[in-house]
Formats: sequence, structure tokens, C-alpha cells
Amino acid sequence: MKIAVLISGRGSNLQSLIDAQARGSLSAEIALVISNVPNVTGLERARRAGISVKTINHKDFTDREAFEGALHTALSEAGIECVCLAGFMRLLTDSFVNDWADRLVNIHPSLLPSFKGLNTHERALDAGVRFTGCTVHFVRPEMDDGPVILQAAVPILPDDDADSLAARVLEQEHIIYPLAVDMISNGRVLVENGQAKIKGAGPPGAPIINPSG
Ligand code: GRF
Repeated sequence: MKIAVLISGRGSNLQSLIDAQARGSLSAEIALVISNVPNVTGLERARRAGISVKTINHKDFTDREAFEGALHTALSEAGIECVCLAGFMRLLTDSFVNDWADRLVNIHPSLLPSFKGLNTHERALDAGVRFTGCTVHFVRPEMDDGPVILQAAVPILPDDDADSLAARVLEQEHIIYPLAVDMISNGRVLVENGQAKIKGAGPPGAPIINPSG
């Protein structure tokens, strides 16, 4: 399965997909990386890995539809079958999302449906919850909505601040994004009645309690 990764910046999740491909644990081929922001670190990571890159700067287009038309053309020309958003900071129109339904995935740094949107770690700390984490999900027109594919739960520790929590969640993002994309590319993920079902999924370890005592 040919995938494209859409980025706007640092590209550490892109790097996790590149690394998984290099060690043979990603059955998908990263055929194209598109950034809507010029000269970002993520583009450099892709070039270093020998992946085709394109900058499609939203500022060069008069409206969202024209920008997405250019995205669509680039994706079609490269024969892309699945699009992975990885820190892509543009909202996509309903029409684009519907065209790519169940072939468009995102990673979000919270346990959805909690903490949609930005500043998820600050908001989890302010809420006083004991766990947060990250979610890979299929994209739907509503922001940070759609069938959940995989989640990793991360305990919040008493001394955490937003940065320390973000770093621990990011480690898990780098594990679950390649895993989820590999599952999709192996045809293990089906959407039924608005929920993603994983064929042959194993059970997780024992539940964690935080604090433990
Ligand atoms: C990640 O935290 C991801 O969950 C969110 O944006 C951030 C992107 O980081 N959607 P990077 O560019 O992949 O390093």
C-alpha cells in the first residue's frame, strides 16, 4: 500500500514511520511526503530517507478548495492509497475528508474523545485526570473525530508539566502510529457501524491503576 504523510513541521511521527519502514516493520511504502509549510525539519527527514517530497504552501492558493485540489492532484499522481496526517496543521474540508474516508488517518496527542484540539497536555493536567495518551483514528469532517484504531494510555505523574508529559506521550505516538499504519496496510482494519475493528487483535496487558497505592 502506497501512503503519503502530510506534515507541517518537526516530523517526528513521520520519522517513526520512516524508521519502521527501514527496519521492515511497516508493510506500507511511504511514497510521498507533503508539507504545507516550506523548509520544515520533516521535509529534511524525508529527503534524507530518499522519499519524494512536495511543498504545497496553502498561502499560494486563493482558497481552501484550490489548496486541496493541489493536494488531491499530487496524491493521485503518486498513486497514494492512504493518507497519514502527522502534525499537519490545516483543517481539511468535508469534501476532501469524505473523498478519502477510511483512507485518511491522524494521530492526536490525547485519549479521544477527551481533549480534542490544541494544548492537550496542559488541559489534561488542568483537569486532574490520571491518564492521558494518544490516539490513531480515521478522520471525519468534525475535528479530531472518527473511528479509533489504536490508543496508548500514559499515566500522569505528580511532578509532570506539559513538556514532560508531551515527551512521554510522544514516545507512545512513535510506537502506535507505525503499528496502526501497518495494520491498515495488511488489511486488518475494517470500519463497521462507525467503529474500527482490528482483525486478530491481541488483548493488552493488565489494566494499570494510577496512583498505584
Ligand atoms: C504530535 O504530537 C501529533 O500527535 C500532533 O502533532 C504533533 C506532531 O509532531 N498531531 P511531529 O511533527 O510528528 O513531531
